[in-house]
Amino acid sequence: MNILVTGGAGYIGSHTCVQLLGAGHDIVILDNFCNSQADVISRVEKITGKKVKLYVGDIRDKKVLEKIFCENQVDAVIHFAGLKSVSESVKNPLTYFDNNVAGTVALCQAMQKFNVRRLIFSSSATVYGNSSEAPYDESMPTGNVCNPYGRTKYFIEEILKDIFAADPGWNITILRYFNPIGAHDSSLLGEEPCGVPNNIMPYISQVAAKKLPLLTVFGNDYDTPDGTCIRDYIHVVDLANGHLKALEKMCDSGNGLNIYNLGTGKGYSVLELISAFEKASGQKINYKIGARRAGDLPIVFADTKKAEKELGFRAKFGIEKMCTDTWNWQKNN
Ligand code: NAD
Ligand code: WQD
Repeated sequence: MNILVTGGAGYIGSHTCVQLLGAGHDIVILDNFCNSQADVISRVEKITGKKVKLYVGDIRDKKVLEKIFCENQVDAVIHFAGLKSVSESVKNPLTYFDNNVAGTVALCQAMQKFNVRRLIFSSSATVYGNSSEAPYDESMPTGNVCNPYGRTKYFIEEILKDIFAADPGWNITILRYFNPIGAHDSSLLGEEPCGVPNNIMPYISQVAAKKLPLLTVFGNDYDTPDGTCIRDYIHVVDLANGHLKALEKMCDSGNGLNIYNLGTGKGYSVLELISAFEKASGQKINYKIGARRAGDLPIVFADTKKAEKELGFRAKFGIEKMCTDTWNWQKNN
């Protein structure tokens, strides 16, 4: 199939492009490089030995979208393009609603116009908010989200449900990612945050590489075995493979709107993650215990049964490989 991958130069998008090309699909990438580097494209080509067709542009730009759909026979769209910093979204909510929500609307309008109605969307476990407790399953309520970034994901999910209700000819899969970490084992692809990272894994790896002096653990007084928060970390290559499974299912079955969690189903505390990283890297992580971060939930992990049963998806890689691959990427880049 020929897949349009928006945000294909980004962290999760680039790993998914490698897996798509490896599985024999053709890809067209649309990215404006607002949070990625152009050389990611040549790295994807180097890993796969295949050529990538790239459009540099914005998902909100109707002209670029029409050009892509005119010039390519697109069978399905995997839509990663979006801004993802929680803290930035609190400061600039309009930027987030414009880029993520208006961007998705523009993309869906172009898809509708060119009769391309297969869409896989990058959502987030954040949509579960604080209404329920882990393990989170797909039938649980969503929307009680505490930041604008999370709300963009919730709103987009609702918009996609309305699009499907109005026209059941669409085939839409919403994937709710838990906490993606790790890197490609070639060390050619990985996460490259701009400035000081918000997320824990790039922070740990930059402390290990002595680029940052000290990690602050946000609270050790939660109701968890060691007092620190628990998350469901998933290797980015496993996550990428989840998209292939979703694509296969989408093409095998008829139209529909389906929602799946992509996680491992197993949670690790912040201290367990630090200790796993120290073991994998042989580096000591300098850390101190600090105050809780506003908005953090104590325990977040996925119920993976639906993805396992309906997609045949099960994460393969454990925490050791997630840490080893992150460290190799950090050392080599
Ligand atoms: P990323 O920032 O590495 O990749 C996003 C890519 O989209 C970047 O290459 C960026 O340049 C591009 N982009 C952004 N806005 C664009 C626009 N308007 N037009 C064209 N290109 C644009 O992020 P990621 O970690 O790879 O995340 C991919 C998707 O998954 C995002 O939608 C994100 O919200 C979602 N997600 C990420 C996580 C996570 O922890 N990384 C978790 C849940 C969901
Ligand atoms: C993980 C744990 C922190 C940094 C976020 C988004 C979510 C999704 C994934 C996109 C928490 C602790 C962190 C630090 C720390 N993104 N921590 N010191 O918050 O689970 O999820 O990324 O959709 O929407 O909210 O991930 O990596 O920020 O934090 O102690 O310097 O690490 O308190 O317990 P989070 P994270």
